[in-house]
Amino acid sequence: MSASGQADLVIVANRLPVDRVPEAEGGGWRPSPGGLVSALEPVLRANDGAWIGWPGDTEEELEPFVENDMSLVPVHLTAQEVEEFYEGFSNGTLWPLYHDVVAKPRFHREWWDSYVTVNRRFAAKAADVAAKDATVWVHDYQLQLVPQMLRELRPDLRIGFYLHIPFPPGELFQQLPWRRQILEGLLGADVVGFQLPGGAQNFIRLVRQRVGHKTHRDLVYLPDDRTVRAAAYPISIDAAGYEKLARSDAVDERAAEIREALGNPSKLFLGVDRLDYTKGIIARLRAFGELVADGELDVEDAIFVQVATPSRERVEQYILIREEIEQLVGRVNGDLGRIGRPAISYLHTSYPREEMAALYRAADVMVVTPYRDGMNLVAKEYVACRYDDDGALVLSEFAGAANELRQAWLVNPYDINGLKQTLLDASRSTAKERTRRMRAMRKTVVENDVNAWAASFLEELSQVRESHGKPLRPARGS
Ligand code: F6P
Repeated sequence: MSASGQADLVIVANRLPVDRVPEAEGGGWRPSPGGLVSALEPVLRANDGAWIGWPGDTEEELEPFVENDMSLVPVHLTAQEVEEFYEGFSNGTLWPLYHDVVAKPRFHREWWDSYVTVNRRFAAKAADVAAKDATVWVHDYQLQLVPQMLRELRPDLRIGFYLHIPFPPGELFQQLPWRRQILEGLLGADVVGFQLPGGAQNFIRLVRQRVGHKTHRDLVYLPDDRTVRAAAYPISIDAAGYEKLARSDAVDERAAEIREALGNPSKLFLGVDRLDYTKGIIARLRAFGELVADGELDVEDAIFVQVATPSRERVEQYILIREEIEQLVGRVNGDLGRIGRPAISYLHTSYPREEMAALYRAADVMVVTPYRDGMNLVAKEYVACRYDDDGALVLSEFAGAANELRQAWLVNPYDINGLKQTLLDASRSTAKERTRRMRAMRKTVVENDVNAWAASFLEELSQVRESHGKPLRPARGS
């Protein structure tokens, strides 16, 4: 960021990469939850850019500040906006709608009004912070109107948008009363990025049908001579960073300590998720509990460690799923546990990266079973940490990561018997089989890391603007 306070690369996301710690808990800052932040932090550092986002509370309005060498520009939300824009429209309407309606989306006009107001505030802030001809990269479903609003304010900018969650098929998207405004909002970007080709195709089809623009493969031709590219750029992680951490003595010792504290089971199953109803936590715990009840697994010898990071705790669906998970854990442990040997070790908390790496190193079977997930970076983190080419990954077909991690034990989380069998297959696999699969997955994750992801998106963005006004050719292979 320059002395003028303007930046050539501006990241705009709902959250800042750090979250305010309440004064009652000691104050200061801690890393924000979720994969988006961990993916983008290295990009911001590499480009000396600025990051615009919400600091996670509604206390006083903060001035721009530097934390951990990152230039951060806070956007203030009122308590009512947190309720209507964040918990309401973003997480009570869009989140379930975009995740295959796993929970019922709620449509409220006042939530929409708040979404528009807050998106306008983010766009105005980005217009202030971006230097002339800068690149602004807007992220995720909370900010889908920002590209168009920002383009109106600053036509000189190069604007990219990336959706971290799935983009649904037309049959679902069309339920949204504000579907046209969302599509037009996104079309303010030069490049609209999705996790999977299917999401990009859903978007292009909807733009043609609902907004009436001409499209050809991955391109949309707008009446003002602008061309928008909509394509897939599957997100990834800092694979080398995770591997380095996993190789450290501290993580190695901690992994051994964790196994020891759990009674050195011969099979340690692990789940790590934000506590969200899309993640399929109930399905996997039920499958595991049944395997113990059936006598296929023994609590003297096997344990399931489930880390569930607190998330969106005031949204009704999240309150309900937490109750359901905790009841299930209580029931399974009450029915099947023995003294000092619970079947499930449930941890409702978040851990720093070091502890996560140690858990990944300690786990024999990593269980990732979302009903729908944009990518799921936990699956990739597990693979990155298994430099020993060991460990089994059980992965839902409905996670974006399944497109790349084909050698995982793939499952349909709706099929509990299939899930049970897959957990057994993975846990009883030979070392040779695990090595074969893990080696192939590690190659994928190492070659396609977060730097490659960001570089390919930003490269595409620079090309679109260079040919501004001239018709573009569709990307090869699209
Ligand atoms: O990638 C999905 C996402 O919703 C991000 O946009 C977000 O930062 C993360 O998950 C965590 O969710 P929240 O910001 O609602 O805590």
